[in-house]
Amino acid sequence: MDSVVQNFTSNAMLTPTHNATSATGIQGVVEAIQTMSYWKLFFTVICVGLVWDQVSYQIKKGKIAGPKWKMWPVIGPFLESLDPKFEEYMAKWDSGPLSCVSIFHKFVVIASTRDLARKILQSSKYVKPCVVDVAVKILRPSNWVFLDGKAHVDYRKSLNGLFTRNALAQYLESQEKVMDKYIEKFISFSEEKDFKPQVFFHEMREIMCALSLKAFCGDYITENQIRKVADDYYLVTAALELVNFPIILPFTKTWYGQRTADMTMKIFEKCAQMAKDHIAEGGKPTCVMDAWCQLMHDAKNKDDENSRLLHREFSNREISEAIFTFLFASQDASSSLACWLFQIVADRPDVMQNIRAEQLKVRDSDLSKPLSLDLIDSMKYTYMVVKETLRYRPPVIMVPYYVKQKFPIAPNYTAPKGAMLIPTLYPALHDPEVYEDPEEFIPERWVEGSPANAAKKNWLVFGSGGHVCLGQTYVMMTFTALIGKFAMHTNWEHEVTPLSEKIKVFATIFPKDDLLLSFKRRNPLTGEIKS
Ligand code: HEM
Repeated sequence: MDSVVQNFTSNAMLTPTHNATSATGIQGVVEAIQTMSYWKLFFTVICVGLVWDQVSYQIKKGKIAGPKWKMWPVIGPFLESLDPKFEEYMAKWDSGPLSCVSIFHKFVVIASTRDLARKILQSSKYVKPCVVDVAVKILRPSNWVFLDGKAHVDYRKSLNGLFTRNALAQYLESQEKVMDKYIEKFISFSEEKDFKPQVFFHEMREIMCALSLKAFCGDYITENQIRKVADDYYLVTAALELVNFPIILPFTKTWYGQRTADMTMKIFEKCAQMAKDHIAEGGKPTCVMDAWCQLMHDAKNKDDENSRLLHREFSNREISEAIFTFLFASQDASSSLACWLFQIVADRPDVMQNIRAEQLKVRDSDLSKPLSLDLIDSMKYTYMVVKETLRYRPPVIMVPYYVKQKFPIAPNYTAPKGAMLIPTLYPALHDPEVYEDPEEFIPERWVEGSPANAAKKNWLVFGSGGHVCLGQTYVMMTFTALIGKFAMHTNWEHEVTPLSEKIKVFATIFPKDDLLLSFKRRNPLTGEIKS
């Protein structure tokens, strides 16, 4: 007690002297500045800025893992981030449950454990999805993905009906047509190249784009429009890299990205009007846009909470912006899954054989049976192959979030407001305590009642919490159907290179050699391969 009083009084006594000293101090500094040359002043400001940059980094870093100092003043590891290496990400995750890095003024905290990742994804009070600055311009500020809190929850509820199993079943007919078309396309492409394995990275992106566009817009979108969007879409991905110049200047990556997005949304607006007309005339829904119009139509005569969210008329522009976010959310992740799936199945003849056997069995060898919900549900092994591919090579390895207010994420660490907080999904999916031999591809680990199936908390492939992936059932259904059909009707060979198993990060993850494949026609009943 005594010492407290003593401290208090000695502080009080110090104060006037301290004030007097600081007054002369400030005066001295002002005088020194006034007598300084412009050059000296310039360099002093730079030095103060550099010191502040380091001090602010130390304060924000606290006790978590990360470089002791910002190696490159101000920019930090900006140059490395332009060409991100998977091995560097792994090293960062291994450095501690929480680690940090600072690039320009952005302070980034990376969470690498399952529980920290889940905590972040489920803490909408403290965080919201972080989008690069240009994303708001490219996807437009009015886009629903930028909503937060209750507004976001309500909007999502109005979209949930578009991705239920029953809604998805309505899109299968047009999706199957796209699958059939691409089976032919891949075979003739390979034939033109004398069946020598070719890079299929671009073809995989194209088929994914075509499948999504057909599911979203049905027959309202023309073949030419699909081709144009599929050809140009990579410009949007390139424009939305995590590190990018925030102002859109003509002929830069972001400018091309914005032009592509605007062109695509214009196409979607026209499709939305055609869907409205079709449903108003009593037509049957066959795509996401139809389903949306049908939900609005049906909600008119209902008064429950969910129907009330659909009472207003969604404009064509609004529908086009939402559909663009579906394409945006799906294109890179789906292309990544497609590349790994086709690579792995080709490299594993045992897996290929099991898929083929199951595909014939569920159809009773009747090849004319169209895709349906029940048919896909019965493809248990094929489904496990898709699920294991997602675990083994999860397309989305991290999801950047933005800290809205100071977030006490761990007992010894509070993430500062304004920081970027990145939950990592990959380590939870390769956790040896949950998945035996996590670096092995084992579809059977997903049989009903298995430990992998029981470990729901580790299944972070599609995120968790309020922003969990809207398209996850769509992904599982579409890919199970797709790989099943390709396995029956084609035989594809994969040229294994030293880079095939290495991971390239381009928004999502891809085989580093861009996937070398060649397709031949196969008779599903006899297994005969035509060359
Ligand atoms: C292999 C394919 C896919 C993977 C791995 C994937 C994964 C993810 C992940 C990790 C998130 C973030 C979740 C979170 O923050 O907790 C997400 C969000 C989202 N995904 Fe997917 N996704 C895939 C395909 C799709 C498809 C095909 C669609 C649409 C048809 C879609 C629509 C969305 C949407 C709209 C969001 C944002 C939801 C919101 O903010 O409320 N995704 N996805």
